Amino acid sequence: MNDLKTKYLSAIAAAADESALEELRVQAVGKKGEVSLKMRELGKMTPEERQVMGPQLNALKDEINSALAAKKVALADAALDIRLKEEWLDVTLPVRPQRQGSIHPVSQVWEECTAIFADMGFAVAEGPQVEQAWYNFDALNIPGHHPARAEMDTFYMHRAEGDDRPPHVLRTHTSPVQIRSMEKHGAPLRIICPGRVYRADYDQTHTPMFHQVEGLAIGKDISMANLKWVLEEFFSAYFGKKVKTRFRASHFPFTEPSAEVDIQCSWENGTVKVGEGDGWLEVLGSGMVHPKVLEAGGIDPKEWQGFAFGMGIDRIAMLKYGIPDLRAFFDSDLRWLRHYGFSALQVPTIRGGV
Ligand code: DAH
Repeated sequence: MNDLKTKYLSAIAAAADESALEELRVQAVGKKGEVSLKMRELGKMTPEERQVMGPQLNALKDEINSALAAKKVALADAALDIRLKEEWLDVTLPVRPQRQGSIHPVSQVWEECTAIFADMGFAVAEGPQVEQAWYNFDALNIPGHHPARAEMDTFYMHRAEGDDRPPHVLRTHTSPVQIRSMEKHGAPLRIICPGRVYRADYDQTHTPMFHQVEGLAIGKDISMANLKWVLEEFFSAYFGKKVKTRFRASHFPFTEPSAEVDIQCSWENGTVKVGEGDGWLEVLGSGMVHPKVLEAGGIDPKEWQGFAFGMGIDRIAMLKYGIPDLRAFFDSDLRWLRHYGFSALQVPTIRGGV
């Protein structure tokens, strides 16, 4: 009995893992284990022998069982300790540096424009960048022979040989979206259309692709006065201060009368400041929508009238954020993007009308 006790207790103490422990359990107290077999022998003993051996065997069995249980807990604790050591993380370490992108000034200003005009009840409309010549020119009262077509340095799309249809163009302005919106929604109408436009032109203030935001408001009695208010409200919100505007008579085929709009600014040693001084800077074209344009859009000019305007997004981005060269907008130079870009969490800076 003592031999059995020493054998199993020391083997249990030395067991390296749970499976070794299980093996010992089967060997000692399993159905055919050494201790169990001994217990079966009790039946063959005399009652006196049994009275001595019975309690001793039971005690041995209990002792082995509790040694097994205790060792099982000890093994589990040791395994957990090892895991905790292996999987230890230093949560105080600084995170790995991560490259962060930025919002391009054009995207930022695009959002700002959208937010300000949305506040005044303008919905955002869209049109294709590869546009039919009819929408880009004819419907806007620019017939085939009109000098405006040549002036715009239009990019024409390729047509397959033998295909005589007039070629599509890369839209030269966002004005074709006026026609598409009229066709789609009819009157009354209040939309802006920010978007990309294309012209074959390249210098410090011109790039072959740039951005415009078109505006169009059509109603029963919309006038130039409404146009002036909307634009002054826009510029004041956009620049965050009262900005005077100056309307100069001009000519566009799609408006009558037409006006170019300047904003008040000062020029000091090469830098422009908007909303002060006695200088003027041209920022957009505008006017009352020409009856022929309304007609092309399927709207009865005897019943409806309205204003339209078209403004350069890149231009007003340069003005607000002091960016000198337009070409750099589209160079994708990371240093430029980091310098002039905006954090994704930076909410467009717009203030209510001043
Ligand atoms: N589409 C003109 C351009 O790109 C700008 C313009 C002028 C738009 C007058 C208008 C407008 O809507 O009424 O030069």
